[in-house]
Parts: sequence; C-alpha cells; structure tokens
Amino acid sequence: MRTQVAIIGAGPAGLMLAQLLHSKGIESVILESRTRAEIEETIRAGVLEQGTADLMRELGVADRMNRLGQVHDGIEFRFHRKGHRINLNELTGGKRVTIYAQHEVLKDLISARIATGGEILFNVGDVRLLDVDTESPRVQFRRDKDGELEELVCDFIAGCDGFHGPSRQHIPQHARTEYSEVFPMSWLGILAEAPPSSPELIYAHHDRGFALVSTRSPEIQRIYLQVDAHDDLGNWSDERIWSELHRRLETDDGWTLIEGPIIQKNIVGMRSFVCDPMQYGRLFLAGDAAHIVPPTGAKGLNLAVSDVVVLAKGLEAYYKQGNAAWLQAYSEICLRRVWKAERFSNYMTALLHRHANYSPFQRQIQLAELDYVTSSPVGLASIAENYVGLPIDWRRS
Ligand code: FAD
Ligand code: PHB
Repeated sequence: MRTQVAIIGAGPAGLMLAQLLHSKGIESVILESRTRAEIEETIRAGVLEQGTADLMRELGVADRMNRLGQVHDGIEFRFHRKGHRINLNELTGGKRVTIYAQHEVLKDLISARIATGGEILFNVGDVRLLDVDTESPRVQFRRDKDGELEELVCDFIAGCDGFHGPSRQHIPQHARTEYSEVFPMSWLGILAEAPPSSPELIYAHHDRGFALVSTRSPEIQRIYLQVDAHDDLGNWSDERIWSELHRRLETDDGWTLIEGPIIQKNIVGMRSFVCDPMQYGRLFLAGDAAHIVPPTGAKGLNLAVSDVVVLAKGLEAYYKQGNAAWLQAYSEICLRRVWKAERFSNYMTALLHRHANYSPFQRQIQLAELDYVTSSPVGLASIAENYVGLPIDWRRS
C-alpha cells in the first residue's frame, strides 16, 4: 500500500489534517487503533475557537455544527459570590467561541472522510513507524488488531496519535527536549440531564475549589469541579457533587444551579507538556502527541487544529511548488503558538483553582488578579484575545 501522507490517529488532529489535505488534492491514509464507535463516544472538549469553527465551515464540514453548536459571545468569571462577564465579542472586534462537543466534530470529520472516499482504517494493531529519517518512511500495522502484518509506504508520516501514542518516541531522545509539569489537582466532569443554568460558561473561583459550568445542548449540561489529584470517583456520590457545586457557585443575586440526573462522570488529571522540536526527518507530530495543556483555557483541541493548518500548508508548498521551507519551519511556527497557549492555560489554572500550598498572601494576590482582569480594559482584552484564539504567526527565521 502506498500514499503521500500516512496519518497515525483519528482524533481532531489526524481527521482535520486528512480533510485539509483532501481539499488541496493531497492523498493520505489514516490508521487508528480504536474503533469508530469508541472514538465517536469519548467525551472530551467542548469549546471551539473562532478559527476552528471557521475552518470547519471552509472545509464544508459544518452543517451539524451550524445547527447544533451554540455560539457564545462571552464567558463569566465568578468569585466572591458575584459574576463578572467578559464580553469576548466586543473585546476582540467580533470574535466568538462555539460550544460543540469534540466527539460531534469527530463524527462530522469521519463522515466527510468516508463520503470523499478517503482511506481510514479503524481498529488497527501493532502500528510501527519505520525509516522516519529517510526519503521513504513506512508504517507497519495489522488490520483488526491481529490480521497479517501490512506495510504503508509514504512520503511523510503525521504523528497525530495523542499523548500516549508511539510517534513521539521516534524522535531520538538526543534530538528532542521535553518540558513537563503535572498539577496537584484534577477535574471531576459530569454530564447532567438538565437545562442550562446559564446562557454562557461560568469559571468559578472559590475557597473550596474551582468549578466550571459548560453545556452540550439545551437538554445536557457539562459541569466540572476541582478535586484532589488522586481522588477517586467512588468518593463522589451524585449528592456530594451537587452539594459541592451549589456551594462553589452560589451568588448573592439569587442565581440557581439547575440539577438533573447525572448520566456520566469522570476524573481527568491536569498536565502541561511540550516536545521541542515537533518534527524529525519525515515525521511531523501534531496535537496532543506533541503537547498537552491543562483544560482550564479550553485550548487542546484548538491547538491540534492550528498545528495541522501549518502542516497542511507545508505539505501543499512541498507538493505544488517543490518548496520544503514551510515544512522545515513547521516546529518553529507551531511552537510559538503552542507556548502562548501553554502560558494562557497555566495562567487560567493558577488564577482560578484552589492551591493547597498557597499562603494567605498568595491567595490575596490571586483575588487581586481576578479583580484586576475583570475590571481593567487591558486585563479583560487579554483574557478575551487568548480565549477566542490567537492567530498563527507565520514568521520564519
Ligand atoms: P487525541 O484526541 O488523543 O487523538 C489521538 C488518536 O490517536 C486517538 O483516537 C487514539 O486512539 C489514536 N492512537 C493512539 N495510539 C495509536 C496507535 N498506536 N496507532 C493508531 N492510533 C493511535 N481542548 C479544547 O480545545 N477545548 C476544550 O474545551 C477541551 N476540554 C477538554 C476537557 C477534557 C475533560 C479533556 C480530557 C480534554 C479537553 N481538551 C480540550 C483537550 C482535547 O480533548 C485534546 O487536546 C484533543 O483531543 C487532542 O487531539 P489529538 O487529535 O491531538 O489527540
Ligand atoms: C467543556 O465544555 O468540556 C469545557 C469547557 C471549557 C473548558 C474546558 C472544557 O475550559
């Protein structure tokens, strides 16, 4: 089997890359270790930056997003029992975010891929990358986990296989630097059958810990609360979750959190991670394979998308003009945006969570920072600009 670009992983990075390449007349094959059903059922991100939503429209995969996604013009920071609205739209000259679940984005991209006759193999096993530093890299794999060993010969490999995938390990250790930080807290996420308690997302700072009210649809709400790093779901009955959320979200103006049956619960850890460079020979990493952000800034999916925009441009310049300069600059261009998203995600995490190791002095500084960013035009503009998504900075050195 032969293709131009072998894509490992059918998450947001891999599927969006395949669609971008298709729009530029470049062939690819996607190899994915999970089944289609597993991918389409995994609950993860929910916030699409303006640029991500625009790209979905440009690629013609936005019908369902336009119908079912919720466009939000603002977010709320809540502290000291009071809400402070950040008007994203006004502060950014008309940009917004769209609340549309990651697995819905994946469903749309998978059906577009199949409709265009693009090759996508689910449930493959034993994926092995070979000769990534030569002109003809290869990927070996087995169909349906235990089929015959097959080989996909290609010009380039896109490692879009998430944080735990094998691709990153093919950049030799001496050729990469890994920056990493694990946070001493986790998020417990729930899906609840309830109408929205708020028309926009609420990021709440409270002495008992952070809480976030998001949404999925007019009938299903997505809500998170900060728990201990090694907490266990078994410690969190539905009653305890609601009681904790009520306390953390309570205001003086009579706002109420609407409860409903909890239909899903999970705990996610929080880490920051960056691999530099994101490329080696003919292997290019994109998305979580190269970097992780804590979810507070809602940046992970959006970074995966901006990486593959840069990669697709590089591949297009290579195939159409024989120009490899954009591919050579791939890491440099991506990492500039990645580090800014790492900065913003760390900042939001530090700003909004309860930190057991903070002294009373540091806690007052945190509250002063919240007061500042929700009242100063400069503070508000900075949050808004980062939240809706920074542009890609295409400069090359
Ligand atoms: P993944 O989605 O991890 O996809 C990688 C794919 O590769 C997977 O399908 C995997 O099965 C496959 N794979 C792995 N190993 C192999 C192999 N050996 N062979 C073949 N395939 C393989 N981001 C946001 O932007 N906004 C948010 O609001 C947000 N909220 C989040 C909330 C939570 C609770 C969590 C956990 C994450 C959140 N994120 C958010 C982050 C976002 O979900 C990820 O950053 C995003 O999924 C990254 O996409 P990806 O394609 O790089 O990787
Ligand atoms: C979500 O809806 O899942 C979500 C929203 C905002 C975040 C993280 C996750 O910061």
